[in-house]
Amino acid sequence: MSVRSIRPGVDRLAAEDWDRRLFDELIPLPDGTSYNAYLIRGSTRTALIDTVDPAKADVLLSALGAVERVDDLVIQHVEQDHSGTATAIVERYPNVRVLSSSKAKPMIVDHLGVPADRITTVEDRETISLGDRTLEFIYAPWVHWPETMLTYLREERILFTCDLFGSHLATSDLYATDRARVYEAAKRYYAEIMMPFAGLIRKHLERLDELKIDVIAPSHGPAYDDPSFIVDAYRHWVNDPPSNLVLIPYTSMHGSTARMVDHLVTALGDRGVSVQPFNMTVTDVGQYAVRLADAATVVFATPTVLVGPHPSVVVAAYLTAALRPRLRYAAAIGSFGWAGKAPETLRSLCSTLQVEWLESVFTKGAPTTETYRALDALADEIEQRHKRLS
Ligand code: FEO
Repeated sequence: MSVRSIRPGVDRLAAEDWDRRLFDELIPLPDGTSYNAYLIRGSTRTALIDTVDPAKADVLLSALGAVERVDDLVIQHVEQDHSGTATAIVERYPNVRVLSSSKAKPMIVDHLGVPADRITTVEDRETISLGDRTLEFIYAPWVHWPETMLTYLREERILFTCDLFGSHLATSDLYATDRARVYEAAKRYYAEIMMPFAGLIRKHLERLDELKIDVIAPSHGPAYDDPSFIVDAYRHWVNDPPSNLVLIPYTSMHGSTARMVDHLVTALGDRGVSVQPFNMTVTDVGQYAVRLADAATVVFATPTVLVGPHPSVVVAAYLTAALRPRLRYAAAIGSFGWAGKAPETLRSLCSTLQVEWLESVFTKGAPTTETYRALDALADEIEQRHKRLS
Protein backbone atom coordinates (compact mmCIF):
# COMPACT_ATOMS: atom_id res chain seq x y z
CA MET A 1 0.00 0.00 0.00
CA SER A 2 1.20 3.49 -0.73
CA VAL A 3 0.64 6.00 2.08
CA ARG A 4 0.92 9.51 0.68
CA SER A 5 0.43 12.80 2.44
CA ILE A 6 -1.99 15.30 0.91
CA ARG A 7 -1.62 17.71 3.83
CA PRO A 8 -0.04 17.24 7.26
CA GLY A 9 -2.33 14.79 9.00
CA VAL A 10 -4.29 14.00 5.83
CA ASP A 11 -3.04 10.81 4.20
CA ARG A 12 -4.19 8.76 1.26
CA LEU A 13 -3.94 5.02 1.94
CA ALA A 14 -4.12 3.54 -1.55
CA ALA A 15 -4.29 -0.19 -2.20
CA GLU A 16 -3.10 -0.43 -5.79
CA ASP A 17 -4.54 -3.39 -7.67
CA TRP A 18 -2.12 -3.48 -10.59
CA ASP A 19 -3.20 -6.89 -11.86
CA ARG A 20 -6.98 -6.72 -11.67
CA ARG A 21 -8.40 -7.01 -15.16
CA LEU A 22 -12.17 -7.20 -14.63
CA PHE A 23 -14.60 -5.39 -12.37
CA ASP A 24 -18.11 -6.60 -11.55
CA GLU A 25 -17.29 -9.51 -13.89
CA LEU A 26 -18.14 -7.05 -16.65
CA ILE A 27 -15.88 -4.01 -16.91
CA PRO A 28 -12.41 -4.52 -18.40
CA LEU A 29 -9.61 -2.88 -16.41
CA PRO A 30 -6.71 -2.43 -18.84
CA ASP A 31 -4.81 -0.34 -16.26
CA GLY A 32 -5.84 -2.11 -13.06
CA THR A 33 -7.38 0.05 -10.36
CA SER A 34 -6.84 1.35 -6.85
CA TYR A 35 -8.99 1.54 -3.73
CA ASN A 36 -8.22 4.72 -1.82
CA ALA A 37 -8.98 5.23 1.85
CA TYR A 38 -8.15 8.51 3.56
CA LEU A 39 -6.97 9.04 7.12
CA ILE A 40 -7.58 12.46 8.69
CA ARG A 41 -6.12 13.27 12.06
CA GLY A 42 -7.80 16.12 13.94
CA SER A 43 -6.76 17.46 17.32
CA THR A 44 -9.42 15.39 19.11
CA ARG A 45 -10.59 12.70 16.68
CA THR A 46 -9.23 10.65 13.82
CA ALA A 47 -11.42 9.72 10.87
CA LEU A 48 -11.01 7.11 8.17
CA ILE A 49 -12.91 7.82 4.96
CA ASP A 50 -13.79 4.66 3.03
CA THR A 51 -11.90 1.38 3.22
CA VAL A 52 -10.69 -0.95 0.45
CA ASP A 53 -11.82 -3.99 -1.46
CA PRO A 54 -11.86 -7.10 0.78
CA ALA A 55 -9.15 -8.63 -1.42
CA LYS A 56 -6.83 -5.88 -0.14
CA ALA A 57 -8.02 -5.84 3.49
CA ASP A 58 -4.67 -7.02 4.86
CA VAL A 59 -2.97 -4.18 2.99
CA LEU A 60 -5.14 -1.53 4.66
CA LEU A 61 -4.89 -3.13 8.09
CA SER A 62 -1.13 -3.27 7.75
CA ALA A 63 -1.00 0.42 6.76
CA LEU A 64 -3.04 1.23 9.87
CA GLY A 65 -0.66 -0.79 12.02
CA ALA A 66 0.74 2.17 13.96
CA VAL A 67 -2.57 4.05 14.09
CA GLU A 68 -3.85 3.50 17.61
CA ARG A 69 -7.18 5.27 17.28
CA VAL A 70 -9.78 5.60 14.58
CA ASP A 71 -12.78 7.38 16.05
CA ASP A 72 -14.92 7.74 12.94
CA LEU A 73 -15.25 5.49 9.93
CA VAL A 74 -17.05 7.31 7.12
CA ILE A 75 -18.71 4.98 4.66
CA GLN A 76 -19.47 7.16 1.67
CA HIS A 77 -20.73 4.33 -0.52
CA VAL A 78 -21.66 0.76 0.33
CA GLU A 79 -20.31 -1.03 -2.73
CA GLN A 80 -17.79 -3.48 -1.36
CA ASP A 81 -14.73 -2.20 -3.18
CA HIS A 82 -14.87 0.73 -0.72
CA SER A 83 -16.79 -0.59 2.26
CA GLY A 84 -15.78 -4.24 2.15
CA THR A 85 -13.15 -3.89 4.87
CA ALA A 86 -15.48 -2.01 7.25
CA THR A 87 -16.11 -5.05 9.40
CA ALA A 88 -12.40 -5.56 9.90
CA ILE A 89 -12.01 -1.89 10.87
CA VAL A 90 -14.84 -2.19 13.37
CA GLU A 91 -13.13 -5.23 14.87
CA ARG A 92 -9.74 -3.51 14.98
CA TYR A 93 -11.17 -0.36 16.57
CA PRO A 94 -14.04 -1.50 18.84
CA ASN A 95 -15.03 2.08 19.74
CA VAL A 96 -15.13 3.39 16.20
CA ARG A 97 -18.28 5.27 15.19
CA VAL A 98 -19.50 4.26 11.73
CA LEU A 99 -20.96 7.25 9.88
CA SER A 100 -23.14 7.01 6.80
CA SER A 101 -26.07 8.57 5.00
CA SER A 102 -29.52 7.51 6.18
CA LYS A 103 -30.04 5.48 3.04
CA ALA A 104 -26.73 3.69 3.48
CA LYS A 105 -27.37 2.46 7.01
CA PRO A 106 -29.67 -0.48 6.19
CA MET A 107 -27.48 -1.29 3.19
CA ILE A 108 -24.41 -1.51 5.44
CA VAL A 109 -26.31 -3.94 7.65
CA ASP A 110 -27.49 -6.00 4.68
CA HIS A 111 -24.29 -6.05 2.64
CA LEU A 112 -21.59 -5.97 5.31
CA GLY A 113 -23.18 -7.33 8.46
CA VAL A 114 -22.18 -4.34 10.58
CA PRO A 115 -24.69 -4.19 13.47
CA ALA A 116 -27.18 -1.34 13.09
CA ASP A 117 -26.42 -0.01 16.56
CA ARG A 118 -22.82 0.68 15.49
CA ILE A 119 -23.93 3.04 12.73
CA THR A 120 -24.70 6.74 13.17
CA THR A 121 -26.43 8.47 10.29
CA VAL A 122 -25.58 11.99 9.17
CA GLU A 123 -27.80 14.31 7.19
CA ASP A 124 -27.01 16.25 4.06
CA ARG A 125 -24.70 19.21 4.93
CA GLU A 126 -24.28 17.97 8.50
CA THR A 127 -20.85 18.49 10.02
CA ILE A 128 -18.78 16.71 12.61
CA SER A 129 -15.77 18.12 14.40
CA LEU A 130 -12.43 16.36 14.64
CA GLY A 131 -11.23 19.16 16.91
CA ASP A 132 -9.32 21.52 14.68
CA ARG A 133 -10.81 20.01 11.54
CA THR A 134 -14.38 19.75 10.28
CA LEU A 135 -15.98 17.19 8.03
CA GLU A 136 -19.10 18.20 6.11
CA PHE A 137 -21.20 15.53 4.43
CA ILE A 138 -22.82 16.18 1.10
CA TYR A 139 -25.45 13.78 -0.15
CA ALA A 140 -24.89 12.83 -3.79
CA PRO A 141 -27.40 10.10 -4.56
CA TRP A 142 -26.98 8.05 -7.72
CA VAL A 143 -23.29 8.49 -8.29
CA HIS A 144 -23.85 5.67 -8.80
CA TRP A 145 -25.83 4.04 -5.97
CA PRO A 146 -28.72 5.71 -4.15
CA GLU A 147 -26.92 6.08 -0.81
CA THR A 148 -23.73 7.83 -1.85
CA MET A 149 -22.39 10.92 -0.09
CA LEU A 150 -19.27 13.02 -0.44
CA THR A 151 -17.17 14.43 2.38
CA TYR A 152 -15.69 17.93 2.47
CA LEU A 153 -12.77 18.72 4.76
CA ARG A 154 -13.46 22.40 5.25
CA GLU A 155 -10.20 23.71 6.62
CA GLU A 156 -8.13 22.08 3.87
CA ARG A 157 -10.72 22.48 1.09
CA ILE A 158 -10.42 18.81 0.17
CA LEU A 159 -13.44 17.05 -1.30
CA PHE A 160 -13.54 13.25 -0.96
CA THR A 161 -15.77 11.92 -3.71
CA CYS A 162 -15.61 8.11 -3.61
CA ASP A 163 -16.55 6.91 -7.14
CA LEU A 164 -17.38 10.36 -8.52
CA PHE A 165 -14.43 11.74 -10.53
CA GLY A 166 -12.63 8.40 -10.06
CA SER A 167 -10.70 6.34 -12.56
CA HIS A 168 -9.78 2.69 -12.76
CA LEU A 169 -6.08 3.41 -12.89
CA ALA A 170 -3.34 1.85 -10.80
CA THR A 171 -0.55 4.41 -10.61
CA SER A 172 2.20 5.45 -8.25
CA ASP A 173 1.23 9.10 -8.77
CA LEU A 174 -0.66 10.82 -5.96
CA TYR A 175 -2.06 13.41 -8.34
CA ALA A 176 -3.20 13.37 -11.95
CA THR A 177 0.13 14.40 -13.44
CA ASP A 178 -0.12 12.44 -16.69
CA ARG A 179 -3.22 14.30 -17.77
CA ALA A 180 -3.82 12.59 -21.10
CA ARG A 181 -3.71 9.16 -19.47
CA VAL A 182 -5.88 10.16 -16.53
CA TYR A 183 -8.40 11.94 -18.76
CA GLU A 184 -8.89 8.80 -20.85
CA ALA A 185 -9.20 6.58 -17.75
CA ALA A 186 -11.60 8.99 -16.03
CA LYS A 187 -13.71 9.30 -19.17
CA ARG A 188 -13.86 5.55 -19.50
CA TYR A 189 -14.91 5.35 -15.84
CA TYR A 190 -17.56 8.01 -16.39
CA ALA A 191 -18.93 6.19 -19.44
CA GLU A 192 -19.06 2.80 -17.74
CA ILE A 193 -20.32 3.84 -14.31
CA MET A 194 -21.69 7.38 -14.23
CA MET A 195 -23.20 8.08 -17.65
CA PRO A 196 -26.65 6.63 -16.84
CA PHE A 197 -26.92 9.32 -14.15
CA ALA A 198 -25.72 12.30 -16.19
CA GLY A 199 -28.81 14.38 -15.37
CA LEU A 200 -28.30 13.98 -11.63
CA ILE A 201 -24.58 14.57 -11.89
CA ARG A 202 -25.34 17.88 -13.61
CA LYS A 203 -27.26 18.94 -10.49
CA HIS A 204 -24.52 17.68 -8.16
CA LEU A 205 -21.94 19.73 -10.07
CA GLU A 206 -24.06 22.84 -9.57
CA ARG A 207 -24.11 22.20 -5.82
CA LEU A 208 -20.35 21.69 -5.75
CA ASP A 209 -19.94 25.16 -7.26
CA GLU A 210 -20.81 26.47 -3.80
CA LEU A 211 -17.62 24.95 -2.34
CA LYS A 212 -14.07 26.19 -2.57
CA ILE A 213 -12.12 23.08 -3.52
CA ASP A 214 -8.35 22.80 -3.65
CA VAL A 215 -8.11 19.02 -3.98
CA ILE A 216 -10.53 16.36 -5.20
CA ALA A 217 -9.75 12.99 -3.69
CA PRO A 218 -11.66 10.08 -5.22
CA SER A 219 -11.56 6.50 -4.00
CA HIS A 220 -10.23 5.12 -7.31
CA GLY A 221 -7.23 6.46 -9.20
CA PRO A 222 -5.20 9.60 -8.61
CA ALA A 223 -6.37 12.76 -6.84
CA TYR A 224 -6.66 16.14 -8.51
CA ASP A 225 -4.73 19.14 -7.19
CA ASP A 226 -6.24 21.14 -10.04
CA PRO A 227 -9.93 20.26 -9.56
CA SER A 228 -11.06 22.20 -12.63
CA PHE A 229 -9.35 19.59 -14.81
CA ILE A 230 -11.82 16.87 -13.86
CA VAL A 231 -14.82 19.08 -13.04
CA ASP A 232 -14.66 20.77 -16.46
CA ALA A 233 -14.37 17.36 -18.11
CA TYR A 234 -17.49 16.18 -16.30
CA ARG A 235 -19.30 19.40 -17.24
CA HIS A 236 -18.52 18.70 -20.87
CA TRP A 237 -19.67 15.09 -20.68
CA VAL A 238 -22.98 15.85 -18.98
CA ASN A 239 -23.88 19.15 -20.65
CA ASP A 240 -22.57 19.45 -24.18
CA PRO A 241 -24.25 18.03 -27.30
CA PRO A 242 -22.86 14.82 -28.77
CA SER A 243 -20.17 14.87 -31.43
CA ASN A 244 -20.35 14.24 -35.15
CA LEU A 245 -19.62 10.57 -34.52
CA VAL A 246 -21.31 7.31 -35.54
CA LEU A 247 -20.61 4.01 -33.78
CA ILE A 248 -21.29 0.73 -35.53
CA PRO A 249 -21.33 -2.25 -33.14
CA TYR A 250 -21.44 -5.27 -35.42
CA THR A 251 -20.92 -8.96 -35.93
CA SER A 252 -20.73 -10.86 -39.19
CA MET A 253 -20.99 -14.63 -39.63
CA HIS A 254 -20.50 -15.14 -43.37
CA GLY A 255 -19.33 -11.69 -44.51
CA SER A 256 -22.54 -10.02 -45.74
CA THR A 257 -22.94 -7.75 -42.73
CA ALA A 258 -19.21 -6.98 -42.66
CA ARG A 259 -19.38 -5.80 -46.30
CA MET A 260 -22.30 -3.56 -45.42
CA VAL A 261 -20.40 -2.14 -42.47
CA ASP A 262 -17.34 -1.47 -44.66
CA HIS A 263 -19.51 0.32 -47.18
CA LEU A 264 -21.24 2.46 -44.56
CA VAL A 265 -17.95 3.36 -42.87
CA THR A 266 -16.59 4.62 -46.20
CA ALA A 267 -19.82 6.41 -47.11
CA LEU A 268 -19.93 8.25 -43.79
CA GLY A 269 -16.24 9.14 -43.93
CA ASP A 270 -16.70 10.53 -47.45
CA ARG A 271 -19.42 12.79 -46.07
CA GLY A 272 -17.28 14.17 -43.26
CA VAL A 273 -18.90 12.07 -40.54
CA SER A 274 -16.55 10.40 -38.05
CA VAL A 275 -17.30 6.72 -37.67
CA GLN A 276 -15.96 3.82 -35.62
CA PRO A 277 -16.96 0.17 -36.11
CA PHE A 278 -16.71 -2.25 -33.18
CA ASN A 279 -16.58 -5.97 -33.91
CA MET A 280 -18.50 -7.12 -30.84
CA THR A 281 -16.98 -10.60 -30.86
CA VAL A 282 -13.57 -9.16 -29.95
CA THR A 283 -14.14 -5.61 -28.73
CA ASP A 284 -13.40 -4.33 -25.23
CA VAL A 285 -16.82 -3.11 -24.11
CA GLY A 286 -15.10 -0.31 -22.17
CA GLN A 287 -13.75 1.11 -25.43
CA TYR A 288 -17.24 0.98 -26.88
CA ALA A 289 -18.68 2.66 -23.77
CA VAL A 290 -16.15 5.49 -23.82
CA ARG A 291 -16.99 6.32 -27.43
CA LEU A 292 -20.68 6.18 -26.58
CA ALA A 293 -20.04 9.16 -24.33
CA ASP A 294 -19.37 11.21 -27.49
CA ALA A 295 -21.46 9.64 -30.25
CA ALA A 296 -24.59 11.16 -31.81
CA THR A 297 -25.63 8.04 -33.72
CA VAL A 298 -25.40 4.28 -33.29
CA VAL A 299 -25.94 1.84 -36.14
CA PHE A 300 -26.36 -1.76 -35.00
CA ALA A 301 -25.19 -4.16 -37.70
CA THR A 302 -26.08 -7.82 -37.42
CA PRO A 303 -26.73 -11.03 -39.26
CA THR A 304 -29.93 -12.86 -38.35
CA VAL A 305 -29.74 -15.76 -35.89
CA LEU A 306 -32.96 -17.65 -35.19
CA VAL A 307 -35.00 -14.67 -36.50
CA GLY A 308 -33.28 -12.13 -34.22
CA PRO A 309 -29.97 -10.26 -33.95
CA HIS A 310 -26.71 -12.07 -33.23
CA PRO A 311 -26.31 -12.38 -29.41
CA SER A 312 -23.15 -10.26 -29.39
CA VAL A 313 -25.11 -7.39 -30.97
CA VAL A 314 -27.91 -8.00 -28.48
CA VAL A 315 -25.33 -7.38 -25.75
CA ALA A 316 -24.27 -4.16 -27.51
CA ALA A 317 -27.88 -2.99 -27.71
CA TYR A 318 -28.56 -3.88 -24.09
CA LEU A 319 -25.44 -2.03 -22.90
CA THR A 320 -26.23 0.97 -25.09
CA ALA A 321 -29.69 1.29 -23.58
CA ALA A 322 -28.43 0.70 -20.04
CA LEU A 323 -25.70 3.34 -20.26
CA ARG A 324 -28.13 6.00 -21.52
CA PRO A 325 -25.68 7.99 -23.63
CA ARG A 326 -26.40 11.31 -25.37
CA LEU A 327 -27.31 9.57 -28.64
CA ARG A 328 -29.77 11.33 -30.91
CA TYR A 329 -30.19 8.77 -33.72
CA ALA A 330 -30.13 5.01 -34.18
CA ALA A 331 -30.45 2.57 -37.06
CA ALA A 332 -30.14 -1.15 -37.75
CA ILE A 333 -28.53 -2.77 -40.75
CA GLY A 334 -27.64 -6.36 -41.61
CA SER A 335 -28.61 -9.51 -43.39
CA PHE A 336 -30.91 -12.50 -43.13
CA GLY A 337 -31.16 -15.91 -44.75
CA TRP A 338 -34.87 -16.24 -45.44
CA ALA A 339 -36.75 -14.13 -42.87
CA GLY A 340 -36.15 -12.29 -39.64
CA LYS A 341 -37.08 -9.61 -37.15
CA ALA A 342 -33.68 -8.30 -36.08
CA PRO A 343 -34.54 -4.56 -36.51
CA GLU A 344 -37.68 -4.89 -34.39
CA THR A 345 -35.80 -6.76 -31.65
CA LEU A 346 -33.03 -4.14 -31.55
CA ARG A 347 -35.57 -1.33 -31.30
CA SER A 348 -37.30 -3.14 -28.51
CA LEU A 349 -34.01 -3.64 -26.63
CA CYS A 350 -33.36 0.10 -26.89
CA SER A 351 -36.89 1.25 -26.10
CA THR A 352 -35.69 3.40 -23.21
CA LEU A 353 -33.39 5.46 -25.44
CA GLN A 354 -34.73 8.84 -26.55
CA VAL A 355 -33.54 8.51 -30.14
CA GLU A 356 -34.94 8.94 -33.61
CA TRP A 357 -34.75 5.66 -35.51
CA LEU A 358 -33.63 5.99 -39.12
CA GLU A 359 -34.63 3.64 -41.94
CA SER A 360 -33.25 0.10 -41.49
CA VAL A 361 -31.26 -1.55 -44.27
CA PHE A 362 -31.50 -5.35 -44.34
CA THR A 363 -30.59 -7.60 -47.20
CA LYS A 364 -31.64 -11.15 -47.96
CA GLY A 365 -28.35 -12.93 -48.51
CA ALA A 366 -25.39 -11.02 -49.89
CA PRO A 367 -25.63 -7.23 -50.28
CA THR A 368 -26.62 -6.01 -53.74
CA THR A 369 -26.34 -2.74 -55.64
CA GLU A 370 -29.68 -1.83 -54.14
CA THR A 371 -28.37 -2.56 -50.63
CA TYR A 372 -25.39 -0.27 -51.15
CA ARG A 373 -27.68 2.45 -52.54
CA ALA A 374 -29.80 2.20 -49.39
CA LEU A 375 -26.69 2.45 -47.21
CA ASP A 376 -25.65 5.60 -49.13
CA ALA A 377 -29.10 7.03 -48.43
CA LEU A 378 -28.67 6.20 -44.73
CA ALA A 379 -25.29 7.95 -44.76
CA ASP A 380 -26.96 11.00 -46.37
CA GLU A 381 -29.61 11.05 -43.63
CA ILE A 382 -27.00 10.85 -40.88
CA GLU A 383 -24.89 13.58 -42.49
CA GLN A 384 -27.88 15.93 -42.69
CA ARG A 385 -28.93 15.29 -39.10
CA HIS A 386 -25.42 15.67 -37.74
CA LYS A 387 -25.21 19.12 -39.34
CA ARG A 388 -27.99 20.16 -36.98
CA LEU A 389 -26.37 18.85 -33.77
CA SER A 390 -26.41 21.49 -31.07
FE1 FEO B 1 -15.97 1.90 -6.72
FE2 FEO B 1 -19.37 1.88 -6.78
O1 FEO B 1 -17.68 1.33 -6.24
